[in-house]
Amino acid sequence: MDLLEAIRLRKSIRGYKPDPVHKEVLREILDIATRSPSALNEQPWEITVVTGKVLEDIKRGNVETLACGALPNPDVPMQLLTGVYKERQVELAKQIFELMGIAREDREKRAEWMQLGFRFFEAPAAIILSADRSIDESRTQFDLGIFSQTICLAALNYGLGTCIEVQGVMYPDVIRRFSGIPDSKRITMSIAIGYPDWDFPANKLESKREPVEAITTWHGFD
Ligand SMILES: Cc1cc2nc3c(=O)[nH]c(=O)nc-3n(C[C@H](O)[C@H](O)[C@H](O)COP(=O)(O)O)c2cc1C
Repeated sequence: MDLLEAIRLRKSIRGYKPDPVHKEVLREILDIATRSPSALNEQPWEITVVTGKVLEDIKRGNVETLACGALPNPDVPMQLLTGVYKERQVELAKQIFELMGIAREDREKRAEWMQLGFRFFEAPAAIILSADRSIDESRTQFDLGIFSQTICLAALNYGLGTCIEVQGVMYPDVIRRFSGIPDSKRITMSIAIGYPDWDFPANKLESKREPVEAITTWHGFD
């Protein structure tokens, strides 16, 4: 697949076919993703891939914890957005709810949608990325971000879709209980991965972007 085409084609997939993803395919994707750059070549990424019963246990644990009303407690704290960033978040939610036919006042359907995120959008596998707590978070976040995007792009080569997902790791105790990731590792992000169900309405989403001219300052070109 052409590189630019892959970058343009990649989108977050929130509906998957149940077909399993073979371990060898996942291994190849991770192998190529390890070519990602990192500061000082520190390669802070630590990878846990879950499928089958372990994934089911994590999904159930996430949803039960959510249903108890437990506040999310991610290893990497989250910040509430304001201003233009909040506006973009709201716009994304509006687009998704419209595609999914979920009305603004339909709290039940909204809660169901939220649960789906905590269930890795029913992907047949999920990749959980962690980093050792001995490395500063400001360093690992950048490197793991690059690593995540490389996984998502490489996945396209195998016909796979992905969704980078903070929702999946909002309850790190649940992940630790079923995957054995020790407390010395900062559980940073999850990536749902599987074969896209192109009939799933949310997969038709074309998320918006600011034009380059609105976000770029040019110097010394004239
Ligand atoms: C760090 C990060 C965390 C994300 N967490 C979630 C999430 O919890 N749930 C979700 O539905 N999408 C999540 N996304 C996907 C973003 O919503 C998505 O990348 C953005 O809306 C742009 O859409 P696109 O990926 O389809 O281009 C996350 C993306 C990133 C990079």
